[in-house]
Amino acid sequence: MKTETTPEEARADLPIHSVAVIGAGSIGIAWSIVFACAGINVRICELDDTRRDSALASAESLLSEMEGAGLLSQATAGILERMSVWEELSDAVSGVGYVQECVVEDVDVKRELFRQLDQLTPHDVVLASSTSTIPSSKFASDLPGRARCLVVHPANPPYFLRVAEVVPAEFTSPTAVATTVSILKRAQIFSVHLNSEIEGFALNRLQGALLREAYCLVQDGVISAVDVDTLVREGLGRRWSVIGPFTTSELNTRGGLRQHSEVLGPVYARLGLERGHENPWTPDTINTVAKAIEQNLPFASWEENVRQRDHAMIQIASRLKGFDNPLVQCESE
Ligand SMILES: NC(=O)c1ccc[n+]([C@@H]2O[C@H](COP(=O)([O-])OP(=O)(O)OC[C@H]3O[C@@H](n4cnc5c(N)ncnc54)[C@H](O)[C@@H]3O)[C@@H](O)[C@H]2O)c1
Repeated sequence: MKTETTPEEARADLPIHSVAVIGAGSIGIAWSIVFACAGINVRICELDDTRRDSALASAESLLSEMEGAGLLSQATAGILERMSVWEELSDAVSGVGYVQECVVEDVDVKRELFRQLDQLTPHDVVLASSTSTIPSSKFASDLPGRARCLVVHPANPPYFLRVAEVVPAEFTSPTAVATTVSILKRAQIFSVHLNSEIEGFALNRLQGALLREAYCLVQDGVISAVDVDTLVREGLGRRWSVIGPFTTSELNTRGGLRQHSEVLGPVYARLGLERGHENPWTPDTINTVAKAIEQNLPFASWEENVRQRDHAMIQIASRLKGFDNPLVQCESE
């Protein structure tokens, strides 16, 4: 049995006081806000002069609006004081405990940047990529310090959608993962752990499944594009703001998810076949999913669980009362 804590594991528990964010596009600015709001100093690196000059103003504009809406626990000015902008990569990463890379989605650009980051930082500094689709083994596998490289893919924008996918490569150390989860927790971001690298990770695969069907429905002339958006925005999306699709199946059907899969599994399998996908839900997988959901929501309390879902929906509805969505008017024009 392992009894001693290695220096690296001990370091994973140490608070990180400053991070570097590389790239000041929309994702870089968003991560900077998330970390600075959590009390962490953020050193932003941006190559482009115009973007570098406007980075703090972009952050200030978003933070001020969030402050006006009562979303910040401290004043914008105090949060901005923790942000600095740098041109040179070596200056930006000096003394940081964690790096969040947010440059263009180009594997060659990321490979060259990670090569430099690996040389410029001690090997216990985590190097996380925000990439939406590229596994870190495609750009970090040859590096001497590859054990601290991984993907931390945020939902966009991360200051509102507080979840990120943590995707280690085979070579990523458990310490790097633990440090990452710890800093995300401090920044109030839920971590979703992927057990293996897969192109598109999970979030974009889920989004892709919905988009594939949406495009097919429009292409087949079944529904307009605007109505697809309305169905998701007013229906699925509203419900998904309090429960995910598996919990939806659990609570929408008397008999729970197991009953839901029995009745609707064959229907969904047929619909999939219509689109050329043959991947029916197996009894084993249904059992795995049901057991996971029932752990949080015991089936014996099904009626109470449904009441809690309704309670959550009522709270959302009451917060959205009077919400005038400017984008909906644009959609119907
Ligand atoms: N946009 C999204 O919805 C979204 C969501 C999640 C993750 N991501 C991922 O986040 C990353 C950034 O996305 P974005 O939309 O902010 O991109 P973007 O193109 O808007 O911004 C990238 C920035 O990085 C800068 N840059 C490029 N190379 C650099 C370098 N070597 N050093 C410093 N700065 C450099 C560019 O000048 C630019 O300002 C991508 O990998 C993307 O896939 C994007």
